[in-house]
Amino acid sequence: MRKKVCIQGLGFVGFAMGIAVASAKDKDTGLPLYNVVGIDLPNKEGLKKVQDINNGKFPISCNDKNLEKAYKESIKNGNFYGSVNIDEYKDADFVIVDINLDVSINGKLSKIEFSNFKKAIETIGLKIKKDTLVIVETTVPPGTTEKIVLPILQENISKRFGNKCQPLLAHSYERVMPGPEYLSSIINFWRVYAGIDSKSSKLAKEFLSTIINTKNYPLTQLSSTTASELSKVLENSYRATNIAFIHEWGKFAEKIGVNLFEVIEAIKIRPTHSNMKKPGLGVGGYCLTKDPLMGFVSSNQFFKNNIIDFPLSEKAVEINSNMPKHSFNITLDKLNDLNNSSKVLILGLTYRDQVGDTRYSASIELAKMFIRKKISVYSHDPMIIDELSLDFNLLKDLPNASDFDAIIFTVAHHFYKELNLKEWLSDYRGFILDSNNILTENQIEILKNLKISFKIVGRGDI
Ligand SMILES: NC(=O)c1ccc[n+]([C@@H]2O[C@H](COP(=O)([O-])OP(=O)(O)OC[C@H]3O[C@@H](n4cnc5c(N)ncnc54)[C@H](O)[C@@H]3O)[C@@H](O)[C@H]2O)c1
Repeated sequence: MRKKVCIQGLGFVGFAMGIAVASAKDKDTGLPLYNVVGIDLPNKEGLKKVQDINNGKFPISCNDKNLEKAYKESIKNGNFYGSVNIDEYKDADFVIVDINLDVSINGKLSKIEFSNFKKAIETIGLKIKKDTLVIVETTVPPGTTEKIVLPILQENISKRFGNKCQPLLAHSYERVMPGPEYLSSIINFWRVYAGIDSKSSKLAKEFLSTIINTKNYPLTQLSSTTASELSKVLENSYRATNIAFIHEWGKFAEKIGVNLFEVIEAIKIRPTHSNMKKPGLGVGGYCLTKDPLMGFVSSNQFFKNNIIDFPLSEKAVEINSNMPKHSFNITLDKLNDLNNSSKVLILGLTYRDQVGDTRYSASIELAKMFIRKKISVYSHDPMIIDELSLDFNLLKDLPNASDFDAIIFTVAHHFYKELNLKEWLSDYRGFILDSNNILTENQIEILKNLKISFKIVGRGDI
């Protein structure tokens, strides 16, 4: 009999994780190992996701052909479906929590309101069997599994199965990378986990080993769920801080006539410096914009006896959220006669290249800055398939360049890297900004030959 896995939350992570679990096969028979149910809330968005999944319609915008193929296969095999019915948890052998947990960002007053998260865990606790393993994958402040999830599960389980019954509980985080390698970034990648006790750790290891290619990407077990949670949050904070750090050097390089990209490549030869970040438009997406604050939130809300400050992480979030202002200022300086009739075109609205996710997109922040100055903003993004509610125009096709006073390349989608600028910009007389190191050397040469005024963030040599 196939084991049943419930995924709580059918978002960008939960849906892809659901497909990864549904794709796990028995080594001997080649048949699926699990029946997977993705459970979302019975609201408009949740019902739509569930309906789409069950009607064979891909519920998220994504360009990973393998994820699409695996999804179709799981529908054909009948081992993956969506539901809003919480009774699905009743006979689950494994439950994976993949819901959102937002940080209300406000410097030292940043905090997390846990009520929806607690309700979600309670829903699981009220229904599961006594031997169901619950794995928390949601990014949470260190301490959450022990201090919030465990007591809720314990209370609800002991009510039904007696005080001696201990929940099976683990924390494990994926390092999913939305984009063309979406599914592979779950299956073919290292993963960290920890159980609340040895029984939970053992079960978590066995389960994850059936889904992840542990032969090539062995699991890392940490000694507590709090350590595993901290590992996820620190990993993202490190990246966000690295980006914030390079931003000031990018601005300096622009001032003193240096190409910082060239410098970074030279420095990266040192193995100790191989992951230096590059200057750009800003940091978007659901993770890096909030995760660096989770250390502070944890200290402030869970470990109050001796609150630790996180000045670097806090500053990184602040710097990163202000980064689009730099691209905005460069454009304004170049076009100081911009007025109400001026038009700006932003090329790329998603939070990173080759994805359709626009959450916390730096390009949208940039657009809002122009709008506040009463400058008309038009945008284009070949990766967006959803209807978006925006305060500016999102064009389906690339417009005529000469209709605009400024054009800003913001996201390195292949479409823009492969754009024939010689043709598209032949009559263009406005200003061009490349705010994310998007233009190729060939495209830069074309701009020079066409005598178009342009700048590149992080390059003072141009
Ligand atoms: N998006 C990424 O690239 C990424 C990468 C790594 C980790 N994460 C983390 O994974 C988690 C999920 O992120 P996401 O991008 O999938 O979020 P999301 O907002 O796209 O999806 C969350 C889903 O959970 C659902 N949900 C909320 N409460 C629920 C409940 N009680 N029962 C059932 N469903 C419920 C929501 O309706 C939504 O569909 C977050 O903690 C995030 O930080 C995200």
